[in-house]
Amino acid sequence: MNKFITVKNEVKTYGSGTNSVTANKDINFEINPGELTIILGASGAGKSTLLNVLGGMDSITTGSINVNGVELGNLDGKGLTTYRRKQVGFVFQFYNLIQNLTTVENVELASEIVDNPMDALEALKSVGLESRANNFPAQLSGGEQQRVAIARALAKNPDILLADEPTGALDYKTGKKILQLFQDFTRKYKKNVIIVTHNSLLKPMADHVIEMADGEIKSDTFNSNPVPVENLEW
Ligand SMILES: Nc1ncnc2c1ncn2[C@@H]1O[C@H](COP(=O)(O)OP(=O)(O)OP(=O)(O)O)[C@@H](O)[C@H]1O
Ligand SMILES: [Mg+2]
Repeated sequence: MNKFITVKNEVKTYGSGTNSVTANKDINFEINPGELTIILGASGAGKSTLLNVLGGMDSITTGSINVNGVELGNLDGKGLTTYRRKQVGFVFQFYNLIQNLTTVENVELASEIVDNPMDALEALKSVGLESRANNFPAQLSGGEQQRVAIARALAKNPDILLADEPTGALDYKTGKKILQLFQDFTRKYKKNVIIVTHNSLLKPMADHVIEMADGEIKSDTFNSNPVPVENLEW
């Protein structure tokens, strides 16, 4: 089967000289089309770094990342911007909402830049926030802001959805709903979702689990029978 993502000998070093930190050390893995992948690891393991380079948010130091036939390293600034805009939906660890736009405007911002967006209100509805469409981020709780950020990523209807600790700020029930949305996104639309988390109890819901420690991959395993989120307890 053609791989959707191939990462080869990927290294990411921040800074230079004695102050440098190598956050990803010789990372290798492959991801199949339509896969729900979980990247697991302790704080500082290099998870966000990996997600950022997969999303074209940052460039790697050496190695290669191929997404859907495109070598990210061969893209110039404009090419990377187009890749980020058209193909990637990103849910950041810290919500990154625009404070002087309402929730629905934050979501519209994402849908306006792609060819086949989901309706912004529809996306807000899917995270249970349609009634807060005209509120500003500062008027919402942390968990609600995270759900707006998730709606914004879903509204782009991206080929690949990258989510960094998407349920960190959410209560159990809401977190479960959001994870359900992610699993549905892969099952219904055969799209790729990569979720970064500390929570190893989420592993059974994924098709593919990559565990990181100290900038390296410690294990790379597949679940032949992933558990539906509704049956998952953590
Ligand atoms: N912009 C940066 N400049 C310098 N060092 C960085 C930068 N971003 C991350 N690092 C370092 O790289 C390492 C990996 O960081 P990263 O954010 O990828 O970890 P993480 O696994 O996402 O952790 P957490 O679970 O706490 O979010 C850490 O040691 C961190 O201090
Ligand atoms: Mg992180």
